Amino acid sequence: MAYPVTRMRRLRSNAHIRSLVRETNLDHADLVLPIFIREGIDQPYPISGMPNVMVQSLASLEEEVKSCLDSGLHAVMLFGIPVQKDALGSSAYSEDNITVASIMALKDKFQEDIVVMADLCLDEYSDHGHCGIVGADGKVQNDETLVLYSKIALLYAKAGVDFVAPSGMMDGQVGAIRSSLDSAGYHNTAILAYSAKYASALYGPFREAVDVSIANGGDRKTYQQDIGNASESLREIALDIEEGADMVMVKPAITNLDIIAKAKEKFNFPLAAYQVSGEYSMVLATAAKGMFDARATAYEMLLSIKRAGADAIITYFAKEIVSYL
Ligand code: PBG
Repeated sequence: MAYPVTRMRRLRSNAHIRSLVRETNLDHADLVLPIFIREGIDQPYPISGMPNVMVQSLASLEEEVKSCLDSGLHAVMLFGIPVQKDALGSSAYSEDNITVASIMALKDKFQEDIVVMADLCLDEYSDHGHCGIVGADGKVQNDETLVLYSKIALLYAKAGVDFVAPSGMMDGQVGAIRSSLDSAGYHNTAILAYSAKYASALYGPFREAVDVSIANGGDRKTYQQDIGNASESLREIALDIEEGADMVMVKPAITNLDIIAKAKEKFNFPLAAYQVSGEYSMVLATAAKGMFDARATAYEMLLSIKRAGADAIITYFAKEIVSYL
């Protein structure tokens, strides 16, 4: 006797039936494309560890964003790479900062058509590669760093950024930035907090892109989270919400689907996930060997991140996937 067809199976019969009952869809409006902009270059150039990703010049940025808009993408996350790196990351909070110039160029040209987020951190600007300033004891100085983060936030806000995105995992960074923004009258500048950010090996290709190496073979384990911990993420997120974050983030994404799901369930608060450089590069490196299809794999991962509970996804696949949807 044949096993009777189950109800679940009946609803898989064809593509239209499957879409009727699909619980989660990936939409172009969920995606944010990270963009690297390097000060002092004339031409965009490729990143060897991140196929199809270019480091943009200030001039080519506009074209890149125009092509995003044409394909239906309306949100970007900017990462500036300065000419000068020093111990205090001083080009991060100088008026002619490359990220500030990029924000101004995009807001001048596209206004509300593009949501501009800007990563706020010191690592791209410091010669030691840490996310904060380093004291005489060799340790990252939390409170001294907050003062600098607040300065950067004000510069970004003044330039017209929609979201500042503090990624340095300093304690109190969201509260410090919110109160500086508010006291300067930037009540509408939102904060996307990198709240649950793990000390991950998957940031490797990104470090090449932004030209960062951590001094003396160091790591970020004293300020980014330990991979083995889950409940810690919920405490980090709770703190950021309390301090005034408008959106919170879990990062990396695919290794932290459990955290995304728990965060969504516990807080039901606007939630982003960052599919980081290593997640991107491993898909393309494997696909290049013919082992699977890159787009189908990327789509599956992004849809799973969404299904886990992310509202928005920051991904280097954004442009590619939008044309696939
Ligand atoms: C810090 C920052 C990093 C990433 C985003 N913001 C690197 C780090 O924490 O070491 C990683 C993103 C990626 O790997 O795609 N400014």
